[in-house]
Formats: sequence, structure tokens, C-alpha cells
Amino acid sequence: MSLCLGIETSCDETAAAVVKDGREILSSVVASSAELHKVYGGVVPEIASRRHIELILPVIDQALNEAGVSLDDIALIAATQGPGLVGSLLVGLMAAKALAFARNIPFIGVNHIEGHIYANFLAHPELMPPAICLTVSGGHTELLYIEKFGSYSRLGRTRDDAAGECLDKVGRMLGLPYPAGPVIDRLAMEGNPQAYSLPRGLAGEETLDFSFSGLKTAAMNEINRAKQRGEEIAVADFAASLMEAVVDVLVDRALKAAEATGAQRVMLSGGVAASRVLRARMEAACRERSLEFYAPPIALCTDNAAMIASAGYFRHLGGEISPLSLNAEPSLRL
Ligand code: KG4
Ligand code: ZN
Repeated sequence: MSLCLGIETSCDETAAAVVKDGREILSSVVASSAELHKVYGGVVPEIASRRHIELILPVIDQALNEAGVSLDDIALIAATQGPGLVGSLLVGLMAAKALAFARNIPFIGVNHIEGHIYANFLAHPELMPPAICLTVSGGHTELLYIEKFGSYSRLGRTRDDAAGECLDKVGRMLGLPYPAGPVIDRLAMEGNPQAYSLPRGLAGEETLDFSFSGLKTAAMNEINRAKQRGEEIAVADFAASLMEAVVDVLVDRALKAAEATGAQRVMLSGGVAASRVLRARMEAACRERSLEFYAPPIALCTDNAAMIASAGYFRHLGGEISPLSLNAEPSLRL
């Protein structure tokens, strides 16, 4: 038995988890500073870093306590190296390196996107590559082909905003609290997705890339126009139309990627993968084409440290180890 302590601080969640043999979650603690960012309508990096400093040691202690273990039992410490906010990344990374050095435990830096991918492997032990993975969150929209464990090729990515960022920013204009993604998803279930006509990014282009800034601008213009005319926006209908525009593109690219690579499995990951609208649409589209569909349970979609522990464990199993000189990389690539 091998226990890995995972640490994640790439954005506004301070998270620590203990995972056994890369697959079994003994504890997963997530403390979010989202409340503190609400008044600003988005993550303020300086506030996030300060909150990480306050939370990191209590969160690690809680993860060890809930797992019923101590640092003496930990065989590996894995922490997010990037991508993310540099001031946030540094807090988790430094805590991980300090503990690893003090206790002489091997340390490994993990790519946050690889962590999101492992949320699927963690939750579905039977799931094997090759597979397509679409990682959609507040910071990323990445379409990857996983040929085998640890081997990734990027097929497409957003050319501007991330899908979650688009939902959050339009949601803010609708007067919804930050992060607006989950609220829009809930409202979308009650609204009419055909009520408002919104553009699909890069429509008609032969590409596996994404673009959400045109949709964001069109949605914001629509809201402004309504305000100027003194008309009410039907919020549920608008949410449904916006979600439909985002999901249409995500499903389209994922299916094209499966076709181009011959992969029989499609998996979702990242915070937006918590969307019930996206999950239902992607699942139905996959079923229609006899593709297998996977998504992590909701708690493993948004940022957490169990996924980092799992990804780190399997990298370490493959013989990797990081030097204690490893630095945070805000734009680290897979
Ligand atoms: O993966 P994550 O926790 O952090 C990043 O790495 O960005 O993703 C957060 C993003 C936010 O944009 C949030 O609005 C979105 O995921 N999100 C959702 C849902 N839950 C979180 N979007 C749509 N539906 C949801 N249920
Ligand atoms: Zn994330």
C-alpha cells in the first residue's frame, strides 16, 4: 500500500487529499476563497494567494486527520506545478517541497490539466486509453488525445476565452453571483434554448479549436440592448440559450476528435464538466455514435487535490520524481 498526499492551489481552491495506490480516496479537503472574490466578480490573484497562505497547513492537517494517517505514513507528495496563478501555485508547491524535504519524502510536480484528466481514471478504474479528453474549466478549454497513460497530444484548444470564463462573465452581466457557471447550468434546465439566437464560435471552420469571446460579446450586447430598450431579459431562457451555444461547440469538437483519431471513448473533465446540460448532451451524442462516455463525479470535476495525488502517483510509478528546485509554471503545458 502506498499513500500519496496531493496538494492543489492553482486558482482559488486550497485543497489537500490522501489517495491510496492512486485510486482510493481516503480524504479530499477543498477550501475555497470564492466568497472573498464575489464582490469583484472574478478571482483576484492577490486575495487568492493570501488566503492560500492562511489555509494551506490547516487544510493539509485536516486531510491527514480525515484519512486517519500522519505524515509518517505518506510515501509521496504531489503538488500542482502549473498552469495557474503564479502566486497561488507557489503556496502549495512550497508547502509540498518543504514537507518533502523535512520528512525526506519523494516529491513530484503535477500538471493541473493532467490532474483533471486523472479525475476520470480515479473514478472509473475500468477506463483505459486511447481516449479523447475534453477539459473545460474557468481557465482552460483543451481537447486532448490520450494515446496511452501519460502520453497526450493536443488536438484543439480555445483561441481566446475558456468556456467557463464565458459563462462566468456573461453571468455576471445577468447579475448572477460568481462563479456563475453552476447557476447558469441550473437555470438552463428550466429555460428555452431557442429563445435567444447566439453565435457558435468558429462555425464553418475546419478546426478542432474553440473560440468563446465572440459568443461572450454577442451575449453581452444582447443584454445591453435589452437594458437600453427597458426590456426584461428572461434569465432562464437566456441561460439556456447561452449554455446551448457553448455545449453545441463542445460536443461538435469532441465528436470530430473521436472520428479523426478513431478513439472509442470520450471523457469530460474540469469544472464545466459538472454541468448537467453538458453531461447529458455529450452522453446522448456519444450513445448515438456508439462511443463510450465518461465524466468524473461532480465533486471531482472542480478543482481538488485527489486528482493531483492520483496523477502524481502514476507519474511516480513510471519512475518520475521532481527536484526540490522545481518552480511554479503559470503557463505549463502538457
Ligand atoms: O476546474 P475549475 O474548478 O477551476 C479551473 O481550473 O478553472 O472550474 C471552475 C469553472 C468556473 O468557470 C465555473 O463557473 C465552472 O467551472 N462550473 C460550471 C459548473 N460548476 C462549475 N459550469 C457549468 N456548470 C456547472 N455545474
Ligand atoms: Zn481546474
